Amino acid sequence: MTNEREALAALFEAAADVRVRAHAPYSNFFVGAAVLDEEGRIHVGCNVENAAYPEGTCAEAGAISAMVAAGGRRILAVAVVGGPADGEEILCPPCGGCRQKIREFAGETASIHLRDAAGAVSSLPLGEMLPLSFGPGHL
Ligand code: THU
Repeated sequence: MTNEREALAALFEAAADVRVRAHAPYSNFFVGAAVLDEEGRIHVGCNVENAAYPEGTCAEAGAISAMVAAGGRRILAVAVVGGPADGEEILCPPCGGCRQKIREFAGETASIHLRDAAGAVSSLPLGEMLPLSFGPGHL
């Protein structure tokens, strides 16, 4: 139990640490994401916006790219933190596209962890965030 709590704290710490490095001059909304892979490794990413707005990428996408580049192939858990650059974190649920990106490497039971301004953690299984999902098993 303590180990689980410590693992969750480490995942949030990694997400919060990378969040400050976001490149988000257009939205001013800084997001950090950390994914836990099948080997217990943590990979991080932050949002990287672009002057050509649609070319911007989400924090989760960056973390997933880092995982794949490091050889990870399975996501066990994800932590996401976000909020205005100079303000408090707010609850930052992954966008629809990111839920699908996570689904590529995660089953329905993978945990998505979020936290609000007060530090309260909400943890949901991916299956609840992306019901009736289309995944690799369909092909
Ligand atoms: N953003 C993420 O990085 N992840 C999400 O799941 C939601 C939104 C980013 C994209 C954009 O840079 C900023 O937050 C505002 O939408």
